[in-house]
Amino acid sequence: MTTATSTRASRLRCIQCGYVADHADQDFRCPNCGDLFEVFFPGWQTADGPRAQGYAAPELKALWLNRRTSFSQEDSSGVWRFRELLPSLNEGQQPITLREGNTPLYDLPRCAHSAGVDYLQAKHQGMNPTASFKDTGMTTAASFAHQEGFRWVACASTGNTSASMAAYAARGGMRSLVLIPEGKISWGKLSQSLDYGAVTCQLRTDFDGCMRVLNEVVRRMPVYLLNSVNPYRLEGQKTAAIELLEQLHWQIPEHIIVPGGNLGNSSAIGKALLEMMELGLIGRLPKLSVIQAAGANPFYRSVHELQGRELIPMQADTLATAIRIGNPASWKKALRVVQATEGTVEQVTEVEIALAKSEIGSDGVGCEPASAVTLAGLKKLVQQGFVKKSESVVLILTGHVLKDPEFTLKFHRGDLFTGTSHEEEAGVLRAQQRAPLVLDANPDAVIRTLEQFDP
Ligand code: F0G
Repeated sequence: MTTATSTRASRLRCIQCGYVADHADQDFRCPNCGDLFEVFFPGWQTADGPRAQGYAAPELKALWLNRRTSFSQEDSSGVWRFRELLPSLNEGQQPITLREGNTPLYDLPRCAHSAGVDYLQAKHQGMNPTASFKDTGMTTAASFAHQEGFRWVACASTGNTSASMAAYAARGGMRSLVLIPEGKISWGKLSQSLDYGAVTCQLRTDFDGCMRVLNEVVRRMPVYLLNSVNPYRLEGQKTAAIELLEQLHWQIPEHIIVPGGNLGNSSAIGKALLEMMELGLIGRLPKLSVIQAAGANPFYRSVHELQGRELIPMQADTLATAIRIGNPASWKKALRVVQATEGTVEQVTEVEIALAKSEIGSDGVGCEPASAVTLAGLKKLVQQGFVKKSESVVLILTGHVLKDPEFTLKFHRGDLFTGTSHEEEAGVLRAQQRAPLVLDANPDAVIRTLEQFDP
């Protein structure tokens, strides 16, 4: 069985050998060279200048803004609202949507201060229906799976992808198969997948091992792969960048900073920036930088030690479970957009991640550990002079604060790093720790506590 797409506006192209196709095999790999496909839009350059589905940049901006007043299913999705920049479903096909996207842009004054910049904002993709950025790509890819008539969809996941896929499969009346590393994902995420009705398998391996097994399964069974090697996932994930620019009234920030795991999201955001340039929606590119955990840093090492010539897979280890990935599938795509936008790649330690997470919490926003690498990375980029104090910066927060509550509780109790090699470095966290207090049930005890904190 092959997956097909409407050829009205978009086609598939191999990122390595340039092979062009309208259908991909179920593993979404190029039949010539085995590399990944990307979606491209051959009709955008017209005699009247660049246009997407016939619309020039000012018309697109007006159209998208106008749709915000509509209650239709497609228009009230923060993904399908930008459908001129997405592959089209066939006539009469309805997208599977949970009204994803439409996520808030917050300012982070305390984090700005601790990072050493004048003004800092965060686009919170954790405020999506299943609590991560994955929903923006799942609505597109699941809709294409449905259009192709697949009964089963599947993914390997560190948690967020599985919850998202299970929800969209259920909405679209499809069955879903989830492969997750045993004991290495958050209970909240596992429980979401179960509630949405996924067949959930905990494999005795890590994320990379789950991915290997799944690749074999999709080769042998009529199952639609919903990991981010699926180019339709990345198309939906592009909309975070489009929506961000719209929220900024098309004023272009100097820097956008994203976490890097499997490197699909950075690739998608970078692709959106390049396409917005191509269409004249923006006149210059923000620098897109990717931050990895030091214990799961194959992309950082590829860029800094091998000049991006190759990526050597590694055994990944970090408490930021979402990005515990040692063999990122989309590294070539991510490299291309980091280079094209003149961004950079940085790594941060476990303690730096924990501190940054609590600081984002102190601004009343909060996020999961994997998202907090963005603030930790920003601090480094400011120290290195790569980000200037006066430059505008947007962090992409990818997951919700309720994702890893055990991490947060241990952090505040002060035992997150007990017995680990990070114990000494973790001394810097004390000022941020607020363990819950156990008191007698009497008002005097509570008042004494209040007075202690506000002498
Ligand atoms: N942040 C969060 C919250 C994530 O869940 C992930 C990936 C990333 C960042 C990294 O994004 O892989 O596109 O570079 N989570 C995966 C999952 C892989 O299975 O949910 P990436």
